[in-house]
Amino acid sequence: MTEQEFYGEQLPHLEAAKKQLLDMIAEYPDTGMGDSRMHAIMYCTSRIKSPDSMIAKLKKHGVPADCHSALTMVNDAVGVRIICSFFDDVYRIADWLGARDEISIRETKDYVSYPKANGYRSYHIILDITDGPGAGLTCEIQIRTIDIDFCASLEHQMKYKHEIRHEALIRDELKRCADEIASIDLSMQTIRDLLAEDF
Ligand code: GTP
Ligand code: MG
Repeated sequence: MTEQEFYGEQLPHLEAAKKQLLDMIAEYPDTGMGDSRMHAIMYCTSRIKSPDSMIAKLKKHGVPADCHSALTMVNDAVGVRIICSFFDDVYRIADWLGARDEISIRETKDYVSYPKANGYRSYHIILDITDGPGAGLTCEIQIRTIDIDFCASLEHQMKYKHEIRHEALIRDELKRCADEIASIDLSMQTIRDLLAEDF
């Protein structure tokens, strides 16, 4: 099923919401310590949830698998992911988003300070757009560091495989990588802070 078939006349509204969030995030004030590679926000990705995965999610929740449920029973028809450099950027960006007038934060989940058992570290924000082209829609923003994102992408692939050989081993290894990455992220942040003292 295509996006157009599933979301119908709501599709332009969803696209507008996605663009509004990306435009808003592009306004994040970012000094970058004089080096473009040190920007807090490295890049963003965004998506409208695919009809297949939306239908699967609605069925799992036991609600009608239609566009109306997609926009009222589920929060992530529109999703934006912010990839940043350091853990403290995650919280600065989240605070900045919280102060924006055109959105209202409904819920946050802090898997950065409270990682999931599998090592997943990401900050999730469910928000309502209250003003602008996307007004009336609920969306999800995820914020995570770039190397954690790399690990989470690999881990996410396991969701789509039915039979995984060496599954326990792979999960253990992914968890170990996520923990090591988080530790390295913190060391890098400390190094950045020490360097910043000399600027
Ligand atoms: P859904 O998982 O979307 O049904 O919502 P939820 O209520 O469980 O919310 P949660 O904030 O835990 O997850 C929202 C989204 O974050 C998911 O749809 C995934 O995109 C992502 N996510 C959550 N947990 C994990 C994880 O362990 N690994 C990876 N790679 N992604 C995750
Ligand atoms: Mg989940």
